[in-house]
Amino acid sequence: MKVMKMKTEIISAENNILTSEAAQKAAELWHAGEILAFPTETVYGLGGNVFRPESIAAVFAVKNRPADNPLITHLYCFDQLHELAFTNDLCKELFARFNPGPLTLVLKKKSCVPDIVSGGLETAAFRIPSHPVALQLLRAANIPVAAPSANLSGKPSPTTAAHVYEDMQGKIPLIIDGGACRFGVESTVLDISGKKPVLLRPGAVTKEQLEEICGEIELAGALHASRPASPGMKYRHYAPYAQVLIAENADAMRSLYAETCLKGSTMLCLSAENNEMLSEIPSADKLILGAEGDYEAFSRNLFAFFRYADERAADYVIVQAAEERDMGMAFMNRLRKAAARV
Ligand code: TXA
Ligand code: MG
Repeated sequence: MKVMKMKTEIISAENNILTSEAAQKAAELWHAGEILAFPTETVYGLGGNVFRPESIAAVFAVKNRPADNPLITHLYCFDQLHELAFTNDLCKELFARFNPGPLTLVLKKKSCVPDIVSGGLETAAFRIPSHPVALQLLRAANIPVAAPSANLSGKPSPTTAAHVYEDMQGKIPLIIDGGACRFGVESTVLDISGKKPVLLRPGAVTKEQLEEICGEIELAGALHASRPASPGMKYRHYAPYAQVLIAENADAMRSLYAETCLKGSTMLCLSAENNEMLSEIPSADKLILGAEGDYEAFSRNLFAFFRYADERAADYVIVQAAEERDMGMAFMNRLRKAAARV
């Protein structure tokens, strides 16, 4: 499919509310089979009408996304789900506890969900975003909206409307600006279509929180498994042009910095505490992710820092590791994917 060149309009939601004309305009675009970018609490999405396969094809074409990587369908309420997927008690309980919010569930789909949305799988992914502007748009349109993150495939997910504009300028008619995303990493993806729940992607709803409801959860096989549980797992993601290196502590960071500076320009992403320890390194080369252990802040800032490193044409980005607990798990997952040279 050829991507047409067009003018990209940006409409801002003041105080997280769109005017009714703006919401109506977005809803009409979706009904007409057009695609547009909108804010969610995780990252910005590039949405199309689930029931217009040609608009889903446009989402894949504009992002340059492989056709076998399925999309998440966004809803504004649980009742919409019955038409689209087979629900059960566990699904109801999880939606009641975590949605609207950053949890996506993979369920057996019904036949009205087109194959192009599910990448040909018999299952499909669903979530109800909690960003008020996303909810307002979904309610105004009153259709399910399939939306991957609004970045070009392989680039870091966008956490501001400006990031979306960088990637989508001239390719889509409308970007809705709802400010910086609260979480900054994509939703947790949990597959409950089989016998045991499987965590396909860690996110802001943590494994620990899910296990309070589901009991023990399996972790999906590694990124390089020959048949990944989630198609998205086999693709390299979230990476800046710079080479990403992970440092376990301040000493490791110091020696990696010394090494990489000999070969090119280097930026550090580190905690406030490690920043103090590494006071000898020029502050122009350092970005503070958050306070030590504040993995919500680490996650919120990571993708924006990757894009900033690209702007500065950094050759290397050295990022401080987090502990693999709570939101540190999502952070380390995105960081490892960015560091992998696949
Ligand atoms: O936070 C988010 O989830 C954002 C916002 C826009 O909602 N969306 C997002 O979409 O991150 P995307 O397309 O970048 O990631 C969707 C992930 C992919 O890893 C995909 O493989 C997985 O969900 N997925 C979707 N349907 C699936 C299915 N039926 N079985 C297994 N994995 C599935
Ligand atoms: Mg994505």
